[in-house]
Amino acid sequence: MRYRFHMSEPTPVTDWTTDYDISDPSYIEDPVPIWREMRQKCPIAHTERLKGSWNPTRFDDIRALAKMVPELSSRAPLVMPPAPDFPEQTLYEQQIAAAPITADPPIHTWTRRMILPAFSPKTVNRYTDYTEELAHSLIDGFIVDGECDAAVDYSQQIPPRVIAHLLGVDPAMADTFVGWVNDLLGEGLLDHEKRMAARDALLGFLGVEVHERVENPKDDLLTEMLHMEPFDENAEITPEVVIGIANLLVIAGIDTTWSSIGSALWHLGTNPDDLARLKAEPDLLPTAVEEFLRYYAPVTMARIADVDVEYGGVKIQQGDKVLMNFPAACHDPEHFEDPDEFIIDRQRNRHVAFGSGIHRCAGSNLARLEMNVALRVWLERIPEFRVSDRDSMKWAGGQVRGPRIMRVSFPAGSPRQ
Ligand code: HEM
Repeated sequence: MRYRFHMSEPTPVTDWTTDYDISDPSYIEDPVPIWREMRQKCPIAHTERLKGSWNPTRFDDIRALAKMVPELSSRAPLVMPPAPDFPEQTLYEQQIAAAPITADPPIHTWTRRMILPAFSPKTVNRYTDYTEELAHSLIDGFIVDGECDAAVDYSQQIPPRVIAHLLGVDPAMADTFVGWVNDLLGEGLLDHEKRMAARDALLGFLGVEVHERVENPKDDLLTEMLHMEPFDENAEITPEVVIGIANLLVIAGIDTTWSSIGSALWHLGTNPDDLARLKAEPDLLPTAVEEFLRYYAPVTMARIADVDVEYGGVKIQQGDKVLMNFPAACHDPEHFEDPDEFIIDRQRNRHVAFGSGIHRCAGSNLARLEMNVALRVWLERIPEFRVSDRDSMKWAGGQVRGPRIMRVSFPAGSPRQ
């Protein structure tokens, strides 16, 4: 059994179709050729590593498997197995831990309905000015230096502040959120002590915030959810349900969007032709954002089989984990012309970076808004830049892939007056 939590060197992979490892450094750095090989040789690969899982790499298979509800359950959607001393939870506790992403119907249905109004295009447009001002003020902080870490000083700073603002909690918590999310989904993924400490701290913080609002309602999303009229006969809105949803919004809204902004800057900072094209044609940005999302799709999720399932020639047994490899689906040649090429003005681009099926990302409007604003402001203020130190470049991967250290340089400018 190779299941272990370690930060030491993992055993190198020699066969990606029977022994893959999504935490392998080569997979984290550039998974595209690996998916190509897996798709050609064995489109639903298997590994015994990390307690075992199946890894589909074809668009149609991933879409079909994402539809298999409730056979493939979302109650354990992390790609890594739980820490060995993770406390026992009832099925209900598992489902509300970060609903709706951890829930199957019927709990999924009503918890998703609780948040959808907060993420409609009209509602998220309210955050445009806030995000724009934030982007400018971050750039004011480093533009005179002629260099910065575009992952740490910019991409990573935007989503946690937008989420704190949206939930109605102290924006000064943003840096703490980043630390917790990193320990939960990033560097802490293989370190169970870090993961447990971050989980307890985040849930503890949100517990205090939610319980405060039971007594003293405020004008914010947490209060709105707590005091929502039940709209569905199954809905049982309790403080614990709201804590679980807030937990998800912090986890799902931060790492994902920061990774996508960072990957877009990585691309532009290493591909001068695409940077020049966007400068010349700023109206192309929303189309380019879709290609950034497709090409650098950051999120892989997992399901757990509650019954035996036969699909695509493989026998998935009850208890097996199945990865929802949305990033690999986004590179399937059956669905995308020249999938491994970045085409900045790609017209037909029905990607699944935001997932597929009932769990499709509820925050996609907000994610798109943050990406468009963050990139537009950057290009207005820093139209010439390049990734300056590729050796120090660091990617995170596994559940969410994106740059974590990325030095860039540019002609120094001035802060706004
Ligand atoms: C570029 C940024 C983002 C990407 C690529 C992304 C991707 C995804 C994916 C692939 C799923 C499907 C999960 C599954 O099938 O198990 C998902 C679900 C979800 N995302 Fe996002 N996400 C992003 C940003 C956000 C933001 C900003 C929010 C809100 C703050 C958000 C909230 C959610 C929620 C609530 C779900 C669960 C929906 C459900 O279970 O019904 N996401 N996201």
